[in-house]
Amino acid sequence: MKLKPIDEQVVVLFGASSGIGRETAMEFAERGAKVVVAARRADALESLAQDIRMRGGVCVPIPAEVTDWAQVKAVADDAARRFGRIDTWVHLASVSVYAPFEQTDPEEFARIVDVNLVGAAYGAKAALPYLKESQGALIMITSVEAVQAIPFHSAYAASKHGLRAMTEVIRMELEAEGANVSVTNVMPASINTPFFDVAKTKLGVKPRGVPPVYEPDVVTRAILYAATHPVRDLAAGGAGKSFIFLKRVSPWVADQAMKAAGLTLQKTNEEKGPDAPNNLFAPIPDGPVGPQGSFSKEARSWSLYTWWATTPSARWIGRGLTVAGLGALAWRSNKRKLLGR
Ligand SMILES: NC(=O)c1ccc[n+]([C@@H]2O[C@H](COP(=O)([O-])OP(=O)(O)OC[C@H]3O[C@@H](n4cnc5c(N)ncnc54)[C@H](OP(=O)(O)O)[C@@H]3O)[C@@H](O)[C@H]2O)c1
Repeated sequence: MKLKPIDEQVVVLFGASSGIGRETAMEFAERGAKVVVAARRADALESLAQDIRMRGGVCVPIPAEVTDWAQVKAVADDAARRFGRIDTWVHLASVSVYAPFEQTDPEEFARIVDVNLVGAAYGAKAALPYLKESQGALIMITSVEAVQAIPFHSAYAASKHGLRAMTEVIRMELEAEGANVSVTNVMPASINTPFFDVAKTKLGVKPRGVPPVYEPDVVTRAILYAATHPVRDLAAGGAGKSFIFLKRVSPWVADQAMKAAGLTLQKTNEEKGPDAPNNLFAPIPDGPVGPQGSFSKEARSWSLYTWWATTPSARWIGRGLTVAGLGALAWRSNKRKLLGR
């Protein structure tokens, strides 16, 4: 399967008014893609579109609520009507509540699953007819929490586990029918976006991601790679990849490590109550619109792992060095046996 170069693509990003989506929309446009951006906040989308147009790019903002099927379908239909096709659909819309499971209200739990999972199903359903036609890419932004859950995040982790499973089913069914659509699950680690500023919290303080924290452009790199290379899963941020690996090797050790980290390292010192403005059911008026959040001092703008995973030549060199290293070890042990040592 061959995907188009970015400058020939029409890209829809659902959940692009801030954070990773905003950063990635700018980068797609910078590289010549025609970009359609969706989220609830019309003013934030308009300012993004203006930024892109000022730099000579093409961007159409379409305000939409992801839990409303008609609105999601309208985004896809409108994008295809304006530009004739959709080559890549990046699905990012997501909300969260930081609270122990027993303090997470039923309607909060339902809302998170509705936005993060049902909304993503609507996105995929709306995009797939167009992606089949263009032989394009469906890119779902899940999380490391799609594999390794974190305390205080029961509904969010459940929605991301569900989204990973749904993405796998979509991929298998498309493969079975011979459709040429690349389906990628991108799993970010902790990223410095407004996500933590706008999430509802019942921890008594503003939440934060388990360190280390990466800048959004680490995820942007993974998304741009997935838009041009058919790839199944991509972790964005090496720390996240380590947890995914640990979960496979020893689920118990991974749970213990995440329990220790999650219970303590997700809390800042900044007091914040459950009634503070949050974006769960509606956006915060004048809420943050930048790509970055409030952890810029500590955020890493680079991940060696993500660079390696998105650089084919580096992967071949890595494999070559591994084979050469294993060969050298085998040769040394054979030589010792022959010499009787
Ligand atoms: N930041 C992290 O540490 C991290 C880690 C792992 C995975 N992720 C994932 O990365 C993706 C992007 O998150 P982010 O960190 O960039 O956070 P963010 O800045 O809060 O972005 C979330 C986006 O979703 C949109 N959205 C929320 N509810 C919506 C709704 N009901 N309908 C339509 N759009 C809605 C928001 O816009 P409006 O408010 O304008 O609607 C915003 O554009 C999410 O899927 C998140 O789960 C983030």
